[in-house]
Amino acid sequence: MAKVLEVKEISKRFLGLLALHRVSLHLEEGEILAVIGPNGAGKSTLLNVISGLLRPDSGEILLLGENISHLPPEARTHRGLGRAFQIVQPLPELTVRENLLVGALFGKPGLKRKEAEAWVAEVLDLTGLSPRAEALAGELTLLEDKRLELARALATRPRVLLLDEVMAGLRPKEAEEAVALVRRIRDSGVSVLFIEHVMPVVRALADRVVVLDYGEVIAEGAYEEVAQDERVKEAYLGRRA
Ligand SMILES: Nc1ncnc2c1ncn2[C@@H]1O[C@H](COP(=O)(O)OP(=O)(O)OP(=O)(O)O)[C@@H](O)[C@H]1O
Ligand SMILES: [Mg+2]
Repeated sequence: MAKVLEVKEISKRFLGLLALHRVSLHLEEGEILAVIGPNGAGKSTLLNVISGLLRPDSGEILLLGENISHLPPEARTHRGLGRAFQIVQPLPELTVRENLLVGALFGKPGLKRKEAEAWVAEVLDLTGLSPRAEALAGELTLLEDKRLELARALATRPRVLLLDEVMAGLRPKEAEEAVALVRRIRDSGVSVLFIEHVMPVVRALADRVVVLDYGEVIAEGAYEEVAQDERVKEAYLGRRA
């Protein structure tokens, strides 16, 4: 299988704090990878480095085999890196459909309006937002907001999608629906790297799990394996309960 994303020996320091220390991981084509770890482990910092919002002190990021380390975030988007944020920021006075159209045009400059509209219709369908297409984004429920955030990221036509705690605050039934949605996204040809604190979601969704603690990878493998790992148990329970 091809590696669609490679993180190589990334380090990032904030003043005295080493937030990431020589972190390496990869994402395979068609894979759903979870990155987990206690609060402050470096998960969001890692996503910020991958998406280009933060510059690492050392290390490289490869997307579809290309070194993108020197590129700004929008150039990474154009090359197929999509990102959904925990705090959703739609344009509230535009409709759901219009928000997605903006995403589609931002993701692929030069895209014809007709093509963008056709793609947005597919994304609305895939994310279950078609019935709300003409609603103003500012009038959505929390669950619909989360769907729009995912849809907005998808509208940019990513090959690799980064998700930072998109299930946070959802009720169990809603989280189940979101899990099914992320699976549909994967089945549509998008590889997914997600950060998540809700362990039932990690177990249900992840093909593989990478565990970070104090900025280092301490375990990697199937959910059942890492859940049994002594270092992982200690990281979650021993020092911080
Ligand atoms: N911009 C910043 N300036 C200084 N320190 C930062 C900055 N961003 C993050 N940190 C610190 O870096 C460490 C890693 O933070 P990060 O947000 O990546 O953790 P996280 O794993 O996403 O945690 P959480 O599960 O709570 O979201 C923390 O100690 C945090 O306080
Ligand atoms: Mg975080």
